[in-house]
Amino acid sequence: MINERVLDKEKMPKHIAIIMDGNGRWAQQHGHERTFGHQNGVEAVRSVIEGAGEMGIQYLTLYAFSTENWNRPKAEVEMLMSLLVKSIRNELERLMKNQVRLMMTGRMEDLPESCRKELQDAIDQTAQNKGLTVVLALSYSGRAELTDMAKAVAADVAAGRLAPEQVTDQTVQERLYHGDIPDPDILIRTGGDFRISNFLLWEVAYAELFFVPTMWPDFRKDDLREIIIDFQSRERRYGKTGEQVRGE
Ligand code: IPE
Ligand code: IPE
Ligand code: MG
Repeated sequence: MINERVLDKEKMPKHIAIIMDGNGRWAQQHGHERTFGHQNGVEAVRSVIEGAGEMGIQYLTLYAFSTENWNRPKAEVEMLMSLLVKSIRNELERLMKNQVRLMMTGRMEDLPESCRKELQDAIDQTAQNKGLTVVLALSYSGRAELTDMAKAVAADVAAGRLAPEQVTDQTVQERLYHGDIPDPDILIRTGGDFRISNFLLWEVAYAELFFVPTMWPDFRKDDLREIIIDFQSRERRYGKTGEQVRGE
């Protein structure tokens, strides 16, 4: 009998984070400019959002643009920003229909005015939706997030609101960009590289990591489902022994 791979509804991850990498190489492999890969990456985003919603995932964080990505050729950066505006505009109706709530993480003030406006409108319009929360990481840097947290802690200490010895994990957590969102259970990177590239440095402390060779434009909700099934068979020990975790 074929061993059918099924999702265990009792062991669903709450939060999945994805480094959507490989657009440029995918395009080049198909004999096109890098930008063609970004355009085709939108279909993968649509499929993964749909799949995550159907599977009852609560949070999906998508790394769409890092602070380091500003150093790319100007034409590519401009194309990515206009693709962002266009995609939000095109997808908004579908997001509303599927009860998706849109949020962003990163330095929104770095984005061009047109992007900020389109993004803020979509965030406002979807704010009351009760389904999947999609957090777009834009002009995001894990180190910048931690630096901003350190500034906030320092300001509280300087103002006498907080004593240095009172600083705990919780103090840090509360000063992250979205400290109320649970940490990712799963971190996926497509595109075949094995690195974090400055993504969610604090938050991925105990995430299960999945590095897959698929280039982002080829990734679909079925790939996400397969990863979740693999995740469900991993034992998360959080520093304990396997016997302790299994209650033996
Ligand atoms: C990810 O794909 C998208 C962004 C970083 C904006 P890349 O553009 O990095 O594609 P590769 O890694 O060069 O193939
Ligand atoms: C990480 O991909 C950022 C995003 C997917 C948005 P990069 O392509 O920028 O990462 P590096 O340069 O390979 O580390
Ligand atoms: Mg890349």
